[in-house]
Amino acid sequence: MFKVKPVAPERLSALLERMPKAELHMHIEGSLEPELMFALAARNGLSLPYADVAALRRAYVFNNLQEFLDVYHQGTQVLKTEQDFYDMTWAYLQRAAADQVLHTEIFFDTQTHTGHGLSSDVVINGLHRACVDAQAQWGISASLILCFLRHLSEAEAFEALEQVMPLRDKLVGIGLASSELGHPPEKFAKVFAKARSHGFRLVAHAGEEAPPAYIWSALDVLKVERIDHGVQALKDAALVARLVQDRIPLTVCPLSNLKLRVFPSLADHNLGQMLNAGLVATVNSDDPAYFGGYINDNFTQTFAALGLTAQHAYQLAFNSFEASFVDTSAKRAMQHRLTEVFETFE
Ligand code: ADE
Ligand code: ZN
Repeated sequence: MFKVKPVAPERLSALLERMPKAELHMHIEGSLEPELMFALAARNGLSLPYADVAALRRAYVFNNLQEFLDVYHQGTQVLKTEQDFYDMTWAYLQRAAADQVLHTEIFFDTQTHTGHGLSSDVVINGLHRACVDAQAQWGISASLILCFLRHLSEAEAFEALEQVMPLRDKLVGIGLASSELGHPPEKFAKVFAKARSHGFRLVAHAGEEAPPAYIWSALDVLKVERIDHGVQALKDAALVARLVQDRIPLTVCPLSNLKLRVFPSLADHNLGQMLNAGLVATVNSDDPAYFGGYINDNFTQTFAALGLTAQHAYQLAFNSFEASFVDTSAKRAMQHRLTEVFETFE
């Protein structure tokens, strides 16, 4: 690994902000800022159960994942047209490009929206068109990962998969999101096997709130290539050994973990321990509009709380490119840009 020259603590935030990075765990519906939510509600003739943006933001206090998901699903109801999905995605990509995200793999789901009477095509075409335009405008590359909602049945996941197959070329992978506890990965064994047979790359949320057993079954039953969150892995030494041995990336989201009370404070977060254990950890924003920060906020606040160094920063950004679903030459090109920034940073 490239040996990073020491950086003064007061310069570390500037380095983190300037550092090229990939984002591998963010839900596009979780990037819908209150201002845009109100604008879309007005455009679609809907009213929100909050007086204004400030009142909505005040409601963003959560005790656990489920409390967040209830508010988040309510917010998705303002999304009605392809242009709404485009505008939401465009806003995120602009923000991500400003944070020096070179490549992002965006989670979305169709089941929420088909549940509101929309077709999957409206969702995917809006997201995809924004990704194409953002690449032309800012040079950021973006791919799309469809998440099944795990609180729904496997039969419903099969239905969602079937509906998106005509748009298969616009998607890189399949993931698993929503209420974790009580909905273990193995509930989706057959539909993940089917997705794999179609050539989709596979990921799953596991070990966010639920125990290490969920990570084991995401790996062994679903055969995923990355684990989303995975912060509970450190409770199981054999699992850590497996994740290190197979170089399975973990897409960690520190501000999400803080806001959903997975850890009592950022100073208690185990990201530093993960890196020290040799795990392929990355830093991501999850649902930035709800959790108080985009990817650079996740980096700067977590580094300040944990006393992490420029060497950790390089490792995390290097991991993010390595763990991405781009081809090897694109990974090496982005890692080269990363090294250049570290070599020239004063
Ligand atoms: N959907 C959006 N954010 C999520 C999270 N942190 N965990 C599970 N499902 C989600
Ligand atoms: Zn997530």
